[in-house]
Amino acid sequence: MELWWLLLVLGVSFALCRFLLMLIPPNVPSIYVDASDVLDDGNHPMEDTFIYIPSKGKAAQADKVQCYEPATMKYLGYFPALTAEEVKEHVDQARKAQKVWAKSSFKQRRLFLRILLKYIIEHQELICETSSRDTGKTMVDASLGEIMTTCEKITWLLAEGERWLKPEYRSSGRSMLHKVSRVEFHPLGVVGAIVSWNYPFHNIFNPMLAAVFAGNGIVIKVSEHASWSGCFYLRIIQAALTAVGAPEHLVHVITGFSETGEALVSSVDKVIFVGSPGVGKMIMKNAANNLTPVTLELGGKDAFIVCDDVDVPHVAQIAVRAALQSSGQNCAGAERFYVHENVYSDFVAQVAKIVKSVRVGPPLTGRHDMGAICMPEHTDRLQSLVKDALDKGAEIVVRGNFGNLGEEVVGQFFPPTVMINVNDTMKLMQEETFGPIIPVVKFSSDEEVITMANDSNFGLGCAVFSGSQRRARAIGSQLHCGVAAINDFASNYMCQSLPFGGVKDSGFGRFAGVEGLRACCLVKSVVEDRFWPFIKTVIPKPLQYPVAENGFEFQESLVGALYGLSIWDRLHGIINTLKLLSDQNTAGAAGRGH
Ligand SMILES: *[C@@H]1O[C@H](CO)[C@@H](O)[C@H](O)[C@H]1NC(C)=O
Ligand SMILES: *[C@@H]1O[C@H](CO)[C@@H](O)[C@H](O)[C@H]1NC(C)=O
Repeated sequence: MELWWLLLVLGVSFALCRFLLMLIPPNVPSIYVDASDVLDDGNHPMEDTFIYIPSKGKAAQADKVQCYEPATMKYLGYFPALTAEEVKEHVDQARKAQKVWAKSSFKQRRLFLRILLKYIIEHQELICETSSRDTGKTMVDASLGEIMTTCEKITWLLAEGERWLKPEYRSSGRSMLHKVSRVEFHPLGVVGAIVSWNYPFHNIFNPMLAAVFAGNGIVIKVSEHASWSGCFYLRIIQAALTAVGAPEHLVHVITGFSETGEALVSSVDKVIFVGSPGVGKMIMKNAANNLTPVTLELGGKDAFIVCDDVDVPHVAQIAVRAALQSSGQNCAGAERFYVHENVYSDFVAQVAKIVKSVRVGPPLTGRHDMGAICMPEHTDRLQSLVKDALDKGAEIVVRGNFGNLGEEVVGQFFPPTVMINVNDTMKLMQEETFGPIIPVVKFSSDEEVITMANDSNFGLGCAVFSGSQRRARAIGSQLHCGVAAINDFASNYMCQSLPFGGVKDSGFGRFAGVEGLRACCLVKSVVEDRFWPFIKTVIPKPLQYPVAENGFEFQESLVGALYGLSIWDRLHGIINTLKLLSDQNTAGAAGRGH
C-alpha cells in the first residue's frame, strides 16, 4: 500500500517538475546585426533622388550588380560580379570552415538555429521591409513567404533534424543474418546554391539551414535581381555562427551573373538550383563535367481545380491569394484555373469582385494589397502573354487598378488580370507566367479536367478543391506532379517535413523535408559483424582458394538453403550444404590432387 502511494507521489511530482520546466524561458543568446544602412530613414539623400534606369545590354555593367527598388525605382547600391577566381576563394574558405563544423554536435547546431529563430521573431519587420524594398512585395506577402516558411523550417529541424540524420538501421537479409547494417549520413562538404529572387530571405535560409544542420558549408549565389537584401541577410547568419563559436566563413553569399554561377557549379560538392528550366539545363551540363550531383527546382504551371460541390466564396478567396501572393511570383503559384461548368460563372464573378478590390502600389508607401514586379522588362512579357491570348480569342473579365498611382506609375507594376475563353493554344496556358494573371477554363467532368490539367510541360504542384475530400484526392493522385494540395493552396510548403520538387520541366530532386535534408548528405552504407568477436566471417572451405571441385555444387545448395520457396526446399538445401561442408576435407583434398 505504502509503495503505491510513493509511486503515485513520485509520478505526480515528476509531471509537475516537467510542467514547471516548460515555464522557464529557454536561454538563447541574442545577436546584434548592424542594419543602419538598410533602413530607409531618409538619411541617404543620394539614394532617395536616384531614379534607376535599367541598362540595356549587360556588357557595359558586367562587373557590377546594380540594385534598386522595383516599386519606386530608387537606387539601392551595387555589388561586385565575382570572377571565377574570387568564387573559388569563397568556396575554399567554406571548405576550411566545414572541416571544423563537421565535428560540431547537434546541440551546437540546434543552438545556431535557436539564435536565428529568436532574431527572426524579434526582427520580422526589418526582414520583411528589406525583402519588400528589394523585390517590391508587400509586408504581408513577405511575412507569409519569408518569415513563416523559415520559422517552420527551423522548428522542424529543431524537433526532427537530428533524428533523420542519425544512423538508420536496416534489415540485413538472409545471407547476412549475422551482420548489422545501417545507413550513415555524413556531410557532403560544401554545397553550392543558386537561388531565385522571389523570396530573397527564405531562398537563402532554406538551403543554408539544411546544409549547415547536416554539417556542411554553403556558398549561395543570390540573383542579380535581389542581391541587396541577400548581402544583409548574410550578416544575420554570420552573427549567429559567431555566437555559437562556429567558423564565420562556413556560409557565404556571393553576387554576380551567370559566370559567377558557372564558377560555383564547378567548385562545390553539390548544387541546389532554383530558377528556370533553361538555366537548369545549363547548370546540369556544367555539373556533368565533375559529376557533381544537382537538385533542380525549375518552376511550374500549377493547376488550381475547382469541382462543382465546393463553397464558392471560400474557394474564390483562396484562388486570388494563390494567384496574387507576391504579385504571382511563386514557383508553385496557381497559374491555370479549371472550374466546373456548374459553378463557373459564380466563381468568375466572385474572383472578379475580389480582384477589383485589390489595391496595387508601392508596398511601403501606404496600404497596398499587391506590390510590384521584381524583374525589369517582366511586365512587358506579361503584357505580351495577355495580348497573345486576346489575339487568339480570350477575354479580360476584370483588371485591377493601380490604386492612387494614377498615370504616374514609376515602379514596375502589372494589374491583376482575370481572363476567360482561354485554352492551350495560348502561351498564357503553356509558359510559366510568374505574374498576377488568373486564366479560368471551364470543365464538365473529372476525367476531362485531369486530362487538361495534366497536359503541361511542367509538373510541380496542383491544388484540388471539392466538397468531397475523396474526390479531390482522386483527382490529385492522377496528376503527374510532385506536390498536391487537397482543398488548400501551398499547405505542402508549410509542412516542412515534406519534400518539395517536381517532375518534367519542373526539374528533379527534392529540397525541404527529410529528403531535402538527406540530399545534403553523403549517404554511406555500413555493414559489420553482429556478434563480433564471437562470430567472425569465414569463407566456407569449398570456396577458399584454390576452390574445391564441388565449389559450385556447394553454392547451388547454399542458394537452395537460403532462398528455397518452401520450407522443404530450404531444409533439403541445408542438409546438402552441411553434407558438402563435411565432405570437404576428403573429397576436396583428393579432387585437387589431379
Ligand atoms: C481556343 O479558344 C478560342 C477562344 O475561345 C477559340 O476560338 C478556339 O477555337 C479555341 N481553340 C481550341 C483548339 O479549342
Ligand atoms: C499525365 O501525364 C503523364 C506524362 O506527362 C502521363 O504519363 C500520364 O499518363 C498522364 N495521366 C493522365 C491521367 O492523363
